[in-house]
Amino acid sequence: NSVRMIGVPVDLGQEQRGVDLGPGALRYAGLAARLSGLGYLVEDMGNLPVPVRDVLGAEREQRYLPSITAVCETVYRAGASAVAQGYLPIFMGGDHSMSVGSIGGVTDEHPAAVIWVDAHADFNTPQSTITGNIHGMALAALLGEGFPELVDVGRPGPKLHASDIVIIGLRELDPQERVRLRESGIMAYTMRDIDERGMAAVAREALGRLAHRTRLHVSLDLDGLDPLEVPGVGTTAPGGITYREAQLLMEIIADSGLLSSMDIVEINPILDNSNRTAKIAVELAASAFGAAIL
Ligand code: ARG
Ligand code: MN
Ligand code: MN
Ligand code: MN
Repeated sequence: NSVRMIGVPVDLGQEQRGVDLGPGALRYAGLAARLSGLGYLVEDMGNLPVPVRDVLGAEREQRYLPSITAVCETVYRAGASAVAQGYLPIFMGGDHSMSVGSIGGVTDEHPAAVIWVDAHADFNTPQSTITGNIHGMALAALLGEGFPELVDVGRPGPKLHASDIVIIGLRELDPQERVRLRESGIMAYTMRDIDERGMAAVAREALGRLAHRTRLHVSLDLDGLDPLEVPGVGTTAPGGITYREAQLLMEIIADSGLLSSMDIVEINPILDNSNRTAKIAVELAASAFGAAIL
């Protein structure tokens, strides 16, 4: 049981500065020690090379697409080798654009299901986006839609089927993104579903819908949680998943025994309060990797 931590300090998929510090924040919050305490062999491979936006002036009007594509290619290869070598990779973002590479890479040899924990669907295309930010297009690219450069990262074409994905925590969509998501057939559990049915029921039903796969990737965007509890994120949406609900979701995921890889993205320590968001993310990762209270 070996975990490989892979740092991806990318902030090019959105406008706010500071998400590039996410890998350091997670290390500082003790991710490696927490997982070794659970009995895993933990290897930190350091950070993958990511260009600093200050030296990419000319790419700004392309929304840094060439650099994001190059970063995702590197993430893809790191993810594919980690899985091929028998590791469970944890990708430490960075913004959510890096998941085009991480999820592509971990599905290089064998398919996986994805639980996308997020306030947002990240299901925009260059046509439907309002902000132009590529982190809002990551899930669409994984399904084969949007910039061809991103769709073809690692291997050509879509990396996931709509039936391989569930979104949990959804509460903010752009108008055309909403139409696209409804037409996609992707199952999304909104905050209303969580409020009405409870996280336990939602988590168990979500896993049931993904039962056709034997491997599970969790893509944890910290803005899926409520910003009152997790202030260190850039794109906040009120009314999110509580810490307790998120813990329960991770515990139920651990019980499935299917977890094979994880992203922890969108942590912005500059906006945070004493690294609280990364500390919470470490606790959630520990639960997903099997930490139990008793
Ligand atoms: N829908 C908005 C956009 O396209 C917000 C996306 C937020 N994505 C994220 N990974 N935090 O810009
Ligand atoms: Mn996201
Ligand atoms: Mn989000
Ligand atoms: Mn938002």
